[in-house]
Amino acid sequence: MQRDIRIDYVPNQKQAMFHESGEDDVLYGGAKGGGKSCALVQECVAWGYEHPGANMYIFRETYDALEQNIIKEFKEKIPPELYKYNEGKHTARLLNQTVINFRYVANEDDATKYQGVSMDWLGIDELTKHTEKTVQILRSCLRSTKYKPKFRATCNPGGRRACMGKRHLHISNRVWEEGYQGSDL
Ligand SMILES: Nc1ncnc2c1ncn2[C@@H]1O[C@H](COP(=O)(O)OP(=O)(O)OP(=O)(O)O)[C@@H](O)[C@H]1O
Ligand SMILES: [Mg+2]
Repeated sequence: MQRDIRIDYVPNQKQAMFHESGEDDVLYGGAKGGGKSCALVQECVAWGYEHPGANMYIFRETYDALEQNIIKEFKEKIPPELYKYNEGKHTARLLNQTVINFRYVANEDDATKYQGVSMDWLGIDELTKHTEKTVQILRSCLRSTKYKPKFRATCNPGGRRACMGKRHLHISNRVWEEGYQGSDL
C-alpha cells in the first residue's frame, strides 16, 4: 500500500533558486533568518532521497550550533516516517538507505579526522565560520564514485571573511543576496 507523506515546506524565492541549481558547488548567501539552514536541510533530504545509499554529511562549527540550527530543523520539518534517527551516532537513515551524518568541526584538526571518509554530498551551514583550510579538507572528502558529488553551503554575506568562495575555494558561487553577486567574489 502506498502512502502520501508530505513535507510541510514551501520554499521562498531564494530557497527555490538554491534547490533548482544543478551546479556541483553552490553557496547560498543570505540575511539572518532568511531560511538558509532550513533550505540546506531540505536540499539534503531531497538529494538523499534521489540518491539511494548515499553517504551525506552536514557540518556546523560547534555541536550546539549543529543541534540548534540543523538537527532541530531536521526533526521539526522532516516527518518521522521518513527516517530513523540514531541519537548515539547523530545520523539519520532514510528509507532508501541513504545516511545523513550530522557533524561539527571546530578547527582544522577536527576536519583532518574526516580525510579518509568518502562523501557523496557535503553541506556546510555557515561556511564563513570556518577557515579556508578547514573547508578545503572537508571538500577533499567529496570523492564519491557512485554519484557526482555535490557541495552545498550557506553563509551570511556580511563581513570581511564572507564569501571566501570563488577565488580561494574554487567554488562556482551563486550567492543570492543583493550586492553580492557571484562575479564579485
Ligand atoms: N520556506 C520555509 N517554510 C517554512 N519555514 C521556514 C521556511 N524558511 C525558513 N523557515 C523557518 O524560519 C526560521 C528561520 O530560518 P533559518 O533558521 O533557516 O534561517 P537562517 O537564514 O539559517 O538564519 P540564520 O542566519 O540565523 O542562521 C526557521 O524556524 C525555519 O524553520
Ligand atoms: Mg542558519
